[in-house]
Amino acid sequence: MRIDLTDEQGLLRDTCRDFAARELTPHAREWDEKSEFPAAAVKKLAELGLLAVAIPSQWGGAGMDAVGYALAMEEISRGCASTGVIMSVNNSLYCDPLYKWGTDAQKHQWLTPFARGEKLGCFGLTEPEAGSDAAAQKTTAVRQSLPPGSDPGGDFYVVNGSKNFITNGVHADAIVLFTMTNRALGNKGITAFVVDLRSKGVTRGPHDRKMGITASHSCSLYFEDVRVPAANLLGKEGEGFKVAMSTLDGGRIGIAAQALGIARAAYEDALAYAKVRKAFDKPIAQLQAIQFMLADMATEIDAARLLILRAASLKDQGVRHSTESAMAKLYASEMASRVANKGLQIHGGYGYIKDFDAERRVRDARITEIYEGTSEIQRLVISNSLLKA
Ligand code: CAA
Repeated sequence: MRIDLTDEQGLLRDTCRDFAARELTPHAREWDEKSEFPAAAVKKLAELGLLAVAIPSQWGGAGMDAVGYALAMEEISRGCASTGVIMSVNNSLYCDPLYKWGTDAQKHQWLTPFARGEKLGCFGLTEPEAGSDAAAQKTTAVRQSLPPGSDPGGDFYVVNGSKNFITNGVHADAIVLFTMTNRALGNKGITAFVVDLRSKGVTRGPHDRKMGITASHSCSLYFEDVRVPAANLLGKEGEGFKVAMSTLDGGRIGIAAQALGIARAAYEDALAYAKVRKAFDKPIAQLQAIQFMLADMATEIDAARLLILRAASLKDQGVRHSTESAMAKLYASEMASRVANKGLQIHGGYGYIKDFDAERRVRDARITEIYEGTSEIQRLVISNSLLKA
């Protein structure tokens, strides 16, 4: 595996690093305190092509690759983890399945405006009773037909059910939605659609009050007799579980990179603080207890990045990367919590108060061990592949 970046990838990383330092880092604490959606920053991400990094320019994306996407996610999340997840959901959970599974007509309508950032997408798999057990979908879609001239004419599906914890759900224009079309078939009875969230019968709950990443708004979505044209089927009827799982293989790379960005922020802040904070007549960076913490933090950050770049480069080669994505996400997310905790510890009492960012890093890191598959689910994916080999 090559780990040297191409000129384009290096330029993308540097552009994102500059953007994060100018537009995200100075505001992230205030956005967090106010739970304020960073609308202006998201618009600027769109102008830089960062809402669809790995989607070809033909469909409105930046035309980069999964490695570039991972680098961008790390830098943006280093500046603001909430902005990182807003970006990640539009990239990997909305645009990526539209690109991979959508017809050209669907791409024109449902991918290009979202890749350009004119509209925002989200992903509806999780339900109150279908979290880790994603196949236990209760939202139903029943096929019906009306004579031409009716609204909608021809074939459509009637969708009923609810989804929860939907990141971007408060602001999104459309959703990649998973439904049960044939319960008797289990996971082979799951069907994916792209659904206009302005459709009659869709309502949104208030945004969830979360522990961290508070500037990214998630909510519940309710579907009551929502008519979805059959033309909005993503893949074939019954292929929805594969659409979901293959999408998450890419999504987990994005979340791993988000965790890496949070960890880097925690480490870089702690290193800077340790050089100026004095105790026992010298900067605490000269104390071996602190030096060893910094050494562990830096080593784990580099190890996570290597796992992420391996998974991303396999994705770019078109090779199945479920196991490698799960390993990257498992390691990077648990590493981010360890590193953020050490960052707080190095700050001592100051780390525990909101005048510093150390406590926010701990809260932001924690979710990366939960969404897009908990650490336990990643261990399941990894061990299943080990046992099958
Ligand atoms: N790609 C393609 N197909 C896949 C696949 C993949 N990565 N993983 C599984 N499949 C296929 C299998 O090949 C199998 O097909 P066959 O029957 O034809 O062989 C089928 O899907 C079923 O596979 P499993 O038996 O492995 O399925 P399972 O039900 O036992 O377990 C699971 C699957 C890994 C536990 C899965 O349910 C899972 O990943 N759960 C976690 C859900 C999750 O990550 N949710 C995140 C929500 S999104 C989110 O969090 C967004 C956010 O807020 C930011």
